[in-house]
Amino acid sequence: MTSKIAFSRRAAIALGGALMLATAPAMAQETVKVGLILPMTGPFASTGRQIEAAAKLYIAEKGATVAGKKIELIVKDDTGTPDVTRRIAQELLVNDKVSFLAGFGLTPLAFAVAPLATQSKTPMIVMAAATSSITEQSPFILRTSFTLPQVTIGIADWAAKNGIKKAMTLVSDYGPGIDAEKAFKDRLTAAGGEVTGEVRIPLRNPDFAPFLQRVSDTKPDALFVFVPSGVGSQFMKQFVERGLDKSGVRLIATGDVTDDDIVDSMGDVALGTITSHHYSAAHDSAENKAFVAAFTKAANVRPNFMAVGGWDGMHLIYEALKKTNGATDGTALVEAMKGMKWVSPRGPISIDAKTRDIVQNVYVRKIEKVDGKLYNVEFSTFEAVPDPVKAGK
Ligand code: PHB
Repeated sequence: MTSKIAFSRRAAIALGGALMLATAPAMAQETVKVGLILPMTGPFASTGRQIEAAAKLYIAEKGATVAGKKIELIVKDDTGTPDVTRRIAQELLVNDKVSFLAGFGLTPLAFAVAPLATQSKTPMIVMAAATSSITEQSPFILRTSFTLPQVTIGIADWAAKNGIKKAMTLVSDYGPGIDAEKAFKDRLTAAGGEVTGEVRIPLRNPDFAPFLQRVSDTKPDALFVFVPSGVGSQFMKQFVERGLDKSGVRLIATGDVTDDDIVDSMGDVALGTITSHHYSAAHDSAENKAFVAAFTKAANVRPNFMAVGGWDGMHLIYEALKKTNGATDGTALVEAMKGMKWVSPRGPISIDAKTRDIVQNVYVRKIEKVDGKLYNVEFSTFEAVPDPVKAGK
C-alpha cells in the first residue's frame, strides 16, 4: 500500500513537472521583460519618479501587448549607486531574463552596466544619463535622453550673439559637467568670447557659496551653469542669497538647472533666466499638449525632460519589437532601432544609425509666467542637432 501511494505521488509530481516544463517555455515566450533601473530614492529620486511614471503611462496608453508579446516592466531602485546598478542589472539578466535594460539616471550608473550589455548582447536604453561618451561604451547602448554638448552649444551661441564677452562656468564635477564646460568654452571662444573662470563643484552635497562669492567679486557678463536635474533649486537659492540676481551677472544654463519639476518653485527671482535644452513642458505642439495632460493626470506633477526620455525609450522598445515581429534577439533589436525616426512630445527625433545616439531639436528658452506659473518658454530652435562631439570625430 505504502509503496503504491508513494509511487502514485511520485508519478503525480513527475507529471506535474513535465507539464510545467512543457508549458513554461511557451509562457515565457509570450512575455517580454523590460528591466527599468532607476534612482527611486536618494538625491536623484525625481529622475526615477519621472521616468517610471512616463514608462507606465506609455504602456497604459499604447497597451501592454506589442507584436503578440506581453510587455512586463520590472522597476528596480538603484539609489543612484553604480555598484547597486550593476548588481541589479546582473540579477535582471540572469534571474528575470529581461530582453531590455533601461533607465540609467546618472552617467556613472550607465558606465557600470555597459560591459554587461555587451556580454549578454542585451539592448540598453539610456533614458537619462547624458555624457557624450556613454554610447561608445557598448554597441548595445542606444540613447533617448540627450548629450550635454548637444544642448550646451545653443546657449553658448545665444550668449555670443547677445553681448556676452566674458563668462564664468560652474558645473558638477563629473562626466556631463565636464562635457558642458568644454562645449561652452569651445563655442564661446570660437565666437570671440572668453571664459574667465571655471569651477567644478562636487556632485554630492554641493556648496556653491564660496564660488558664488568669487563670481560676485569678478562680475563677468554671465555665469554659465550645469547641475543635474533636481539640484537646480539649491543652486538658485544660493545665487539669490548672495545677491547675484541683482548684480548684473546674467545667469545662463542648460535646461537641467531649470527643469520642469522644480522651475515653478524657484519663484520670480528665476524670471528671465535663459537656458537651452531639448524639452520644455511648454513646448507648443499637439503631441506635447496631449503628453503633458496625460502625464500630469497620472503622476500629479508636470513632466520634465527625464519623463520624455522615458516615454521615447519605451517607444523605441515597442517599435523595435514591431520590426522584429516580437523576436528578442538583442542584435536584431539594436539593428531595428538604428535610424528610427518619430515625433516625440519634444519635437521630431531620430536615432543616428552610426552612433546610436539621439538627434533632436535644441531650443533656447526664457523663464516666463504662463497662467501664473513659471515655465521655460521656447523662443528659438536649432533643428536636428546630433551629438557634436561624435559628429566632429
Ligand atoms: C548624468 O549623470 O549624465 C546626468 C544626470 C542628470 C542630468 C544630466 C546628466 O540632468
